[in-house]
Amino acid sequence: MATRVLMVFDLPYAVKPGFDYSEEFADPKRSYCENDVHKALLACGYEVQLLSLFDDVRPLLDAVRDFKPDVIFNLCDTFKNVTHWDKNILAMIELLGVPCTGASSGALFLCNDKALSKKILRFHRVRTPRFHTFYAGHKVWHPKTLKLPCIIKPLTEEASRGISQASIVDDEAAFLARVKMIHERMNLDAIAEEYIDGRELYVSIVGDRKLRMLPAREMTFGQMAEDEPRIATYKAKWDDDYRKKWGIRNHFADAIDPELQARLSDVCKRAYRALNLRSYARFDLRVTAGGQVYVVEPNVNPNIAKDDELAQSALKAGISYKSLIRKVVNQALRRKA
Ligand SMILES: Nc1ncnc2c1ncn2[C@@H]1O[C@H](COP(=O)(O)OP(=O)(O)O)[C@@H](O)[C@H]1O
Ligand SMILES: [Mg+2]
Repeated sequence: MATRVLMVFDLPYAVKPGFDYSEEFADPKRSYCENDVHKALLACGYEVQLLSLFDDVRPLLDAVRDFKPDVIFNLCDTFKNVTHWDKNILAMIELLGVPCTGASSGALFLCNDKALSKKILRFHRVRTPRFHTFYAGHKVWHPKTLKLPCIIKPLTEEASRGISQASIVDDEAAFLARVKMIHERMNLDAIAEEYIDGRELYVSIVGDRKLRMLPAREMTFGQMAEDEPRIATYKAKWDDDYRKKWGIRNHFADAIDPELQARLSDVCKRAYRALNLRSYARFDLRVTAGGQVYVVEPNVNPNIAKDDELAQSALKAGISYKSLIRKVVNQALRRKA
């Protein structure tokens, strides 16, 4: 009998049982990742049921009771449009006792908070930028232990939301203003980190017991002026016209000498173990001119669409998209729920 896979994902609205997702899946700006994973799961020969969640968890309970999945393929990023409630969905799946792909609820909890994950990494001697956390509603000041320039970010956001060139501050007034902007306009807690000048690399790891580092990707900043901070702002990631204008590109990292390759692998595998990650993850790194590797952010359950960084790196390593999806499912099946 075919392995039964329940693919769970989020939509910004509720749908009725048996809903036809073909319109959502066909739209390259919406559920394109779900579409890719769904096709790959079918190509692997699994029996697949689709389930989107919005603001009610009962459909998940019903699907687990009625479909009796062997495994859940988890693509939930949000619940009720709240980004950090993906961990709560996962915690519920854990209570239901069904093995699940991707990170555990504990890892989601740790990695959603850019300060908490750094505290653990520092304890394990993984290099991360020095930082200070500013919770909304509390006093804001510039701690003298934090060298300028700094970058000010929302503590718990993703996809560079709230990150622009103005996030880099090189005096105290700009520092305070940017933290306050995040508190008052975005209504979020903030983190200030020392700015790490250097290359922007993305390194993905796949595995549970045995870890495999995939070929590094890089964002380069084309014609952008050398004295402009070269960072992955919201526009640099998502605005095609802006990317074209400055020649910002994502591609396989070149000029990675064996020594740097070994260091990337060591840092990312240690970070993966320190945060107790599993399945697959992607690290956002900065590498200084002197070759020091800093973990800027661990991304658990990163985008696993066919054209995104992780799957592209897998392909370069000789793992087809279908094999990648099968690997992730098999790893989950081997784990006790
Ligand atoms: N401490 C830092 N030093 C240099 N650049 C940084 C630093 N923190 C963030 N950045 C830049 O901002 C981008 C987004 O920050 P990140 O923490 O990964 O947030 P997000 O979760 O929104 O992706 C990074 O990819 C990097 O280019
Ligand atoms: Mg990031």
